[in-house]
Amino acid sequence: MKIFTSQPLSDILAWAYETLKENNTLTFEVLNPDIGRGNYAGESVTVDDITYVYRSYKAWSDLGEILFCRMLTPKILTEHTVQITYEKLDLGDSFHHSDAKEEKYGTASRFSAIHKNEEPAFLSSYLRALRSVKVGTRKRILNLGINTGDEFDLIRSILSQEEYHNIELIGIDHSISAIEKARERFDEGNATFYVHDINDLASLELGRFDLIITIGTLQSPGIEFKPLFMKLVQEYLTPNGALILGFPNCRWMGGEMIYGAKAPNYPYSEMTLLYKDVYYCKKYLQQKKFRVTLTGKDYVFLTGTKIHSIS
Ligand SMILES: C[S@@+](CC[C@H](N)C(=O)[O-])C[C@H]1O[C@@H](n2cnc3c(N)ncnc32)[C@H](O)[C@@H]1O
Repeated sequence: MKIFTSQPLSDILAWAYETLKENNTLTFEVLNPDIGRGNYAGESVTVDDITYVYRSYKAWSDLGEILFCRMLTPKILTEHTVQITYEKLDLGDSFHHSDAKEEKYGTASRFSAIHKNEEPAFLSSYLRALRSVKVGTRKRILNLGINTGDEFDLIRSILSQEEYHNIELIGIDHSISAIEKARERFDEGNATFYVHDINDLASLELGRFDLIITIGTLQSPGIEFKPLFMKLVQEYLTPNGALILGFPNCRWMGGEMIYGAKAPNYPYSEMTLLYKDVYYCKKYLQQKKFRVTLTGKDYVFLTGTKIHSIS
């Protein structure tokens, strides 16, 4: 088995890329990260006269993600070393490749296997955004691209029953199967779901909302991002209304949420479109006297709240 002691990460990366061209797994022996804990990656740790370069499990897990692999449970090999194994992800196993139109994200799609609230990076950022807009004080909440309702589910789980029942929730999506499931999940009487095209909100006569949430939806093909975003702010928010916009900066493949947005015409993650859209929204909202924060990692969350609430 390949053993790495003091080799730089650049050598390991080059070896890994080369080996994965011919193999579906990659196995090597390194210093047990528990031994050098507290060190930064790259610091030297000497045990039994062998000098190792320290790297944490987080570093090894990151490397696996960069190689589009999942990291298997490390095995203890000796008193000081462990075996790291990476297994290639099935990159074809993804909803991104589907062209099923309205049902691309339906309950029969690969997308329906995703539970974002179980991914720490998503959950922590979404929770932070909900808390920063004081979701329990909002009376009418609109979600565009609600799918089966996971984003409402978290709201329900963090509020008291009384707070939750005082809120009117409206979710819109063009997937019939996703909306049917959302209706089953939210039968307490305060949630309404529409199978509808987000481009035609006017015909629903929805009124205004204290909070608009839309995650992973406004940048979809078939949606004109900027005009829709401006319309939401101008015509669908109450004077003190708030916004939570979630921009994906990841791909879902082979059971994993992989950091980095895939851009057309690039074989690697490229973020111009993400930064452009996020920055556009931030500038626009600031001009309209919103306080805007940007948080998150695999999903970038833009949260907009009014600087001075209007009474
Ligand atoms: C990437 S999914 C995100 C779903 C959910 N917000 C989440 O983050 O898990 C985008 C959602 O928007 C819906 N969608 C896309 N374009 C739409 C449109 N023009 N009208 C209505 N729904 C649309 C899709 O059906 C899908 O459920």
